[in-house]
Amino acid sequence: MADYFKLNSDYYEVPGHFTFKDVYLSKYVRKDTLERPELYQIKSDDIFVVSFPKSGTTWVLELTQLIINKGDPTYSESVNHFDRIPFMEFEPENYPKRNGLTAMQNIESPRLLKSHLPIHVFPPQALQMGCKIILVARNPKDTVASYYNFYQALPPLFGDYKGDFSNYLKLFVNGKVVFGDWFDFTLGWWKYVEEKNALFLKYEDMKRDPRDATVKISEYLNCNLSDEVIDEITERCSFARMKTKFQGVEERAFMRKGAIGDWKHYFTVAENEAFDEVYNEKMKDSGLSFDWE
Ligand code: A3P
Repeated sequence: MADYFKLNSDYYEVPGHFTFKDVYLSKYVRKDTLERPELYQIKSDDIFVVSFPKSGTTWVLELTQLIINKGDPTYSESVNHFDRIPFMEFEPENYPKRNGLTAMQNIESPRLLKSHLPIHVFPPQALQMGCKIILVARNPKDTVASYYNFYQALPPLFGDYKGDFSNYLKLFVNGKVVFGDWFDFTLGWWKYVEEKNALFLKYEDMKRDPRDATVKISEYLNCNLSDEVIDEITERCSFARMKTKFQGVEERAFMRKGAIGDWKHYFTVAENEAFDEVYNEKMKDSGLSFDWE
C-alpha cells in the first residue's frame, strides 16, 4: 500500500467498532450471529442485493421490489423502505424494529434482502442453495466520498465520527470503515460473479443507462415485463423521484447527490494520485475496472 495512507498514531478511529474475520464492523452487527449463519434460515428463493455501503443499494432494492411486484407500486409506496426490506446482518440493540434477523422471518417469500457482508462471512448456505444475488458496485472514489457524508449524516450509527475527509480516506484505504476493505469486498464477490449465477451491476452503468439496469434485473429474476412497465419502474426509481419519496431523517441520508464524480470535491491532487496507485495495484489482475469521470 502506498505509504501515503499509512496510519500513524494521529488517525481517528470510531471507538467500539470491532474486527471479525478481517472485516471491520460496527456494534450493529453481532459477531455471535455471524458465527451461526444457520440462524438466518435462508430459503432457496431468497433474493439478495449485496453491496459495499454507498454503492446504490437502495436504488437497486427499490427497482428489484417493483420488478418482483410486476411494476405494481402499491406496496413500495405504502410502506417505508426500511420496513419492507430487511437489512440481514443489521441488529441494533436499541432499535429492535430494524433487527434484520427478526424482520426477515416476518416477510413473505420470495424475500428481498439487503446485505453488505463480504463473501467470506456471507451465509454459505445462500451460495450453496443458488439464491439469486444481485451485486451492486460503485467506483471507490465516489463510494468513499458518499460514505464520509453518510457517517456525518447519521452520527449515532457511526459512533459520532470526528475525523476529516483525509483521515476518513486513510481509514477507507486501510479497511477501517464499517464493512471493511472495499477492495477485498469487491474482488471477493467479483470472483463469485464470474463463476456463478449472479448479476453484477455498476452504479456508473446504471446512471448512464438506468433502463438497461431494470431490464437486466427483470431478466435475471425471470420476470417478463412489458416495455411500458419497464419504463414505469425505471422512472419511479429515478433519483429525483426517490429523493422526494425518502423524506424521513433516516431515509434522507440515503439520497444525497446521486452523481458520478462528486469525489473531486473531496480528494486533494496528492490524495488522488496516491489512491490511483493503490487502485491500480489492487485491481490489476482482476479484469474489473470502474470509471469515475
Ligand atoms: P451519494 O451520497 O453520492 O449521493 P446506498 O443506497 O448503497 O447507501 O447508496 C447511496 C448512494 O446512492 C448515494 O450516493 C445516493 O444519493 C445514491 N442514490 C440513491 N438512489 C439513487 C438513484 N435513484 N439514482 C442515483 N443515485 C442514487
